[in-house]
Amino acid sequence: MSEIASTDPEGVDGVRMTWNVWPRTKVEASKCVIPLAATIALIRPSPDIPRLPYAPLRCKTCTSALNPFCRVDFTAKIWICPFCFQRNHFPPHYNAISETNLPGELYPQYTTLEYAIPHSDPNPIPSPVFLFLLDTCIIEEEINFVKSALGRAIGLLPDNALVGFLSFGTQVQVHELGFSDMSKVYVFRGSKEIPKDQILEHLGLASSVVSGRRPIKGVPPFPNSGVSRFLLPASDCEYTLNTLLEELQRDQWPVPPGKRPARCTGVALSVAAGLLSACNPGTGARIIALVGGPCTEGPGTIVSKDLSDPVRSHKDLDKDAAPYFKKAVKFYEGLAKQLVSQGHVLDVFASALDQVGVAEMKVAVERTGGLVVLSESFGHSVFKDSFKRVFEDGEQSLGLCFNGTLEINCSKEIKIQGVVGPCTSLEKKGPSVADTVIGEGNTTVWKMCGLDKSTCLTVLFDLSSSDRSNASGAAVNQQLYLQFLTSYQSPDGQLVLRVTTVTRRWVDSAVSTEELVQGFDQETAAVVMARYASLKMETEETFDATRWLDRFLIRLCSKFGDYRKDDPSSFTLNPSFSLFPQFMFNLRRSQFVQVFNNSPDETAYFRMLLNRENISNAAVMIQPSLISYSFNSLPAPALLDVASIAADRILLLDSYFSVVIFHGMTIAQWRNLGYQNQPEHQAFAQLLRAPQDDAQAVIRDRFPVPRLVVCDQHGSQARFLLAKLNPSATYNNAHEMAAGSDVIFTDDVSLQVFFEHLQRLAVQS
Ligand SMILES: *[C@@H]1O[C@H](CO)[C@@H](O)[C@H](O)[C@H]1NC(C)=O
Ligand SMILES: *[C@@H]1O[C@H](CO)[C@@H](O)[C@H](O)[C@H]1NC(C)=O
Ligand SMILES: *[C@@H]1O[C@H](CO)[C@@H](O)[C@H](O)[C@H]1NC(C)=O
Ligand SMILES: *[C@@H]1O[C@H](CO)[C@@H](O)[C@H](O)[C@H]1NC(C)=O
Ligand SMILES: *[C@@H]1O[C@H](CO)[C@@H](O)[C@H](O)[C@H]1NC(C)=O
Ligand SMILES: [Zn+2]
Repeated sequence: MSEIASTDPEGVDGVRMTWNVWPRTKVEASKCVIPLAATIALIRPSPDIPRLPYAPLRCKTCTSALNPFCRVDFTAKIWICPFCFQRNHFPPHYNAISETNLPGELYPQYTTLEYAIPHSDPNPIPSPVFLFLLDTCIIEEEINFVKSALGRAIGLLPDNALVGFLSFGTQVQVHELGFSDMSKVYVFRGSKEIPKDQILEHLGLASSVVSGRRPIKGVPPFPNSGVSRFLLPASDCEYTLNTLLEELQRDQWPVPPGKRPARCTGVALSVAAGLLSACNPGTGARIIALVGGPCTEGPGTIVSKDLSDPVRSHKDLDKDAAPYFKKAVKFYEGLAKQLVSQGHVLDVFASALDQVGVAEMKVAVERTGGLVVLSESFGHSVFKDSFKRVFEDGEQSLGLCFNGTLEINCSKEIKIQGVVGPCTSLEKKGPSVADTVIGEGNTTVWKMCGLDKSTCLTVLFDLSSSDRSNASGAAVNQQLYLQFLTSYQSPDGQLVLRVTTVTRRWVDSAVSTEELVQGFDQETAAVVMARYASLKMETEETFDATRWLDRFLIRLCSKFGDYRKDDPSSFTLNPSFSLFPQFMFNLRRSQFVQVFNNSPDETAYFRMLLNRENISNAAVMIQPSLISYSFNSLPAPALLDVASIAADRILLLDSYFSVVIFHGMTIAQWRNLGYQNQPEHQAFAQLLRAPQDDAQAVIRDRFPVPRLVVCDQHGSQARFLLAKLNPSATYNNAHEMAAGSDVIFTDDVSLQVFFEHLQRLAVQS
């Protein structure tokens, strides 16, 4: 049991919190510096989670589900809700329950369980729809890469999946797949926004709807059967699609010299959304957009057609010198709204050397729970292997689910400020909604049109301001409760409700900080601070993330450190906090805070993944892991420091987005001489292979597939490693370093200097 807990910090519930013991009052909570927050991996699979074949009992007052923390009176057949203390009668079919005959939902270990909700609708659940949207304003070579990726994907789709196909360049083409011998195409101009009704009318789908028809076997039950001309079962249209792909050509519109092609990504996406609006409500559908360049035509444009006009940079955004940005974001906000109301997902696969507008599209991807992959080319393994994973079955499957909603119930003292991550607020107010909003707030219910095995959300909490410690003279509650109810349509079409109920202890932190300190989760706190800082950088102009993080850290160290006032050398930190300053040091240097080293598209991409991944993955994005391989020892974790570099070592760096294998100088020389091929140097061959094998294991399990960089000390690609290392040795103190080690050319402060500053400021009176 304890062994499982130590290797799996999320436990069966998939929940982690910044604080695992909660201060009792709002005032005490604010003194804790790090906000009260929980992260939850919504539908993480586990063999220890049972699925019961019925719907849960709900509290008649607050609608929370029956759970192991309810007090049960077996004689009177009553359960008491831990959220609102309502007494609820068990229905007659629970008459046989007793201490020794518990229903599954009352087993103490089933704090998380699933209910397979029987279908009330007589119609079968509609098959999922995959609507491909292909950019044709790309060079021949890229077209060929993307065609073969698409062909492979279609071959992997389940037979019942419905497939549609759009291509776009200067105009949008909607391909009718219902004919195998002749292809019919509907064309839309790309220059201006087209209202949904007009899209439907042009496609011949305007609603002279014959709804309520009995479904015919084998024919998808759309209210508007016309849509089945465009969306066909994969097994029926594989041939047509392959022929279509074979014949598909680059956009034929001439591109004058010095100009960008006219590419109408925005109109193409709204045509796709319009087409999907003709599906039955509740149909799970995803638009899979394959984009190879920037939108330059119609709504969603991010840059002019003039090649001398570069795509906006962070500097431009900062100086308000990106004339297209706000308008494009607004357009995509509208598209996000439409997709969420239809329950459909937008996935973006952007493959180009330059930016394509992921920063602008982010809102539509994130609010619908879509996937995003950014790479340099449709031929790069980051795209190819990631794209294949989307359609793979079995253990490698991403477990793509549709139609998710999350409801959160909590003890009455707790208020929800909002959620950060891939979801949309459904603006359903309740007593537990906080006044201040962070992320998707103003609600206790959220929508996730798409969600998968790894989807993780962060919930930020506040406490009610009334002094609760003494409410109505009743016995003070010792425990707080949170319940997460996630309903979704699983890949096999089953409607599932997952209920996770967790409890934590209240503590009077004014009296005892010891318990509070023990309950601090530094890894989760670091990730939550990274998400919070990223959100503020996006939404607050002139927000200075570095100073903001520094102030948090200094306050935290002042509050929880042990020291004599004004004596920096006396400063020590409890082990519960001791890793946190280093996380903040690396966060300050990371791509999330130092955005000027990247493009706005890259930043948007990094942040979308930061917000949706689990805590261990997100922590690696902030503070990469480093493993050292050498002859005389087993592979071992190494300090994320330039001093870890040595001529006779191989280092494996995992920074989530890339995995770097770095050969020390001597190792690289021996490899170049081919020692590994000589029978007497088997040990060397093994040493070379070990980090390769470990890197492959990481790459295999990750989505998006990370970039693999293999490099040598002093080689040009070595910067992928050096950029992540603590510059303990710079050209300022190079003479002090041992021979064979490396030097980083930077004026960044080192971890040691950072700590010294921190100690000095934390002990100041
Ligand atoms: C986090 O996600 C990865 C897959 O992306 C998985 O291998 C790992 O077990 C997860 N960690 C936890 C603690 O759930
Ligand atoms: C979608 O989710 C909602 C809310 O959980 C549910 O009422 C509805 O039946 C679901 N629709 C389908 C088709 O699964
Ligand atoms: C539980 O959630 C439902 C739906 O959001 C809400 O109506 C109810 O007030 C909540 N109850 C508590 C105790 O949070
Ligand atoms: C929250 O709701 C209030 C009123 O109900 C509204 O004024 C406010 O703008 C909303 N905030 C957000 C962030 O949606
Ligand atoms: C609890 O309430 C009583 C009277 O209502 C008051 O006298 C007492 O000071 C309160 N205790 C605390 C800890 O606030
Ligand atoms: Zn209740």
